[in-house]
Amino acid sequence: MENFELYKYKVVQKINFLSLEEREKILENAGYNVFNISSKYITVDLLTDSGTNTISDLQLSMMMLFDESYAGAESFERFLQSAKDFCNKRFIVPVHQGRAAEKILAEIFCSKGSIVLSNTHFDTGFAIYKYKESIPVNIPTPFYGDEAFLFKGNIDLDKLESFLKNENVSHVVMTITNNALGGQPVDLENVAQAYELTKKYGKPFIIDGCRIAENAILYKKYRGVNKSIKEIIHSYTHYCDIFYMSTKKDGIAHMGGFIALDDEKFLPKIRQLAILFEGFPSYGGLSGKDMEIIAQGLREVLDEDYLNDRINQVSFLGNLLDRIGVPVIKPFGGHAVFVDAQKFIEHIKPEDYVAQSLVVELYRRGGIRAVEVGYLMYGKDAIRNLVRLAIPRRTYTYSHLQFVAKIFEEIKENKDELDGFEVVSADPLVPHFTAILRPKRRSNIERS
Ligand code: F0G
Repeated sequence: MENFELYKYKVVQKINFLSLEEREKILENAGYNVFNISSKYITVDLLTDSGTNTISDLQLSMMMLFDESYAGAESFERFLQSAKDFCNKRFIVPVHQGRAAEKILAEIFCSKGSIVLSNTHFDTGFAIYKYKESIPVNIPTPFYGDEAFLFKGNIDLDKLESFLKNENVSHVVMTITNNALGGQPVDLENVAQAYELTKKYGKPFIIDGCRIAENAILYKKYRGVNKSIKEIIHSYTHYCDIFYMSTKKDGIAHMGGFIALDDEKFLPKIRQLAILFEGFPSYGGLSGKDMEIIAQGLREVLDEDYLNDRINQVSFLGNLLDRIGVPVIKPFGGHAVFVDAQKFIEHIKPEDYVAQSLVVELYRRGGIRAVEVGYLMYGKDAIRNLVRLAIPRRTYTYSHLQFVAKIFEEIKENKDELDGFEVVSADPLVPHFTAILRPKRRSNIERS
């Protein structure tokens, strides 16, 4: 049913409203970086859909069966069964979250100067590969800018082949859905072809599938296939050597992740590094409670009613913004609405952090927390200057999203007055998490 929440409340958390003056002070104290703001000062938190999920009554009850044994916990057995069933791989190595998997895989595959290709890396993988002195390179589909093109998450197959042929490529990572470019789905055909090409050149092909269930419902909708979500997921995971996921997304959990594979070749090294960095392979940095929540979450995420509700919420917000003339990436993706900040606020240059300026204004006017995906996150490697409004799973209602649209309407009226920003300090590898910024007031620039 349209615009009807598929869930009712059982546990609630109060939302606080602050005054404009209070929020201005908070922003200043936070160095204009919304990662530095306490959640009690946030009205609608769209910073991320990662780990911010509302768990179900079943997840909570399964959690109470937790077994916290160091080795051979029953909770691990349930986790293992569910993860295997989800991705159809023989071996599962648990990790505490997605970036732990990225770290382990980078240790194994990266070497100094080698290139890691992707349809688009997300921020943690991007930073980890740089840290390992590899070169992360994004090769998204050339049809990315075409509104009618449905699989904007795809990889550019021509560029993939050219890199594989001519450069020192360590491995290929397919991010499903393509988070940094709009939570956009990747077509099965594209994954299959990318996999075949990568195998032709003897390189490992890895799927980062933390939102693969959302990808599956969009694929089903666009291609009209008559298969279950689980079957669709299995057809994707068929085309990879290694699958990993952060279960903070489509695991509908608060923590967790795993690496999955069929081939025994990579398994001993992955297990060894997991023991060194994460924990014994029957818990991998996770508590029994986490593993129970994930085991149940990986089953719930396959429910089409749930997934339709999920993508409906995203498109509801997207359509509201579209109607009031805010430029958004269309068609809408699986977990978030992406606003093209550069198109919306034309007078601020990318290097003056146009998308961060919109992030700051959303908080200033409405206590809404969003995230910049652009020049602050990726520097010169940024493909677009976007603001992501990520919707936590089963957490907000349609009225919260209407409130977000109302704040956008106010911003639209006054957007020509917005200033750019400059960075006072930031860590070079993870600038968006750590930056302290200050406004670059036009009045000051004109005077100087
Ligand atoms: N891969 C993708 C595609 C992601 O979106 C993330 C995290 C990770 C890997 C890393 O997983 O957080 O469990 O270590 N994305 C979050 C986000 C943080 O806001 O999109 P993690």
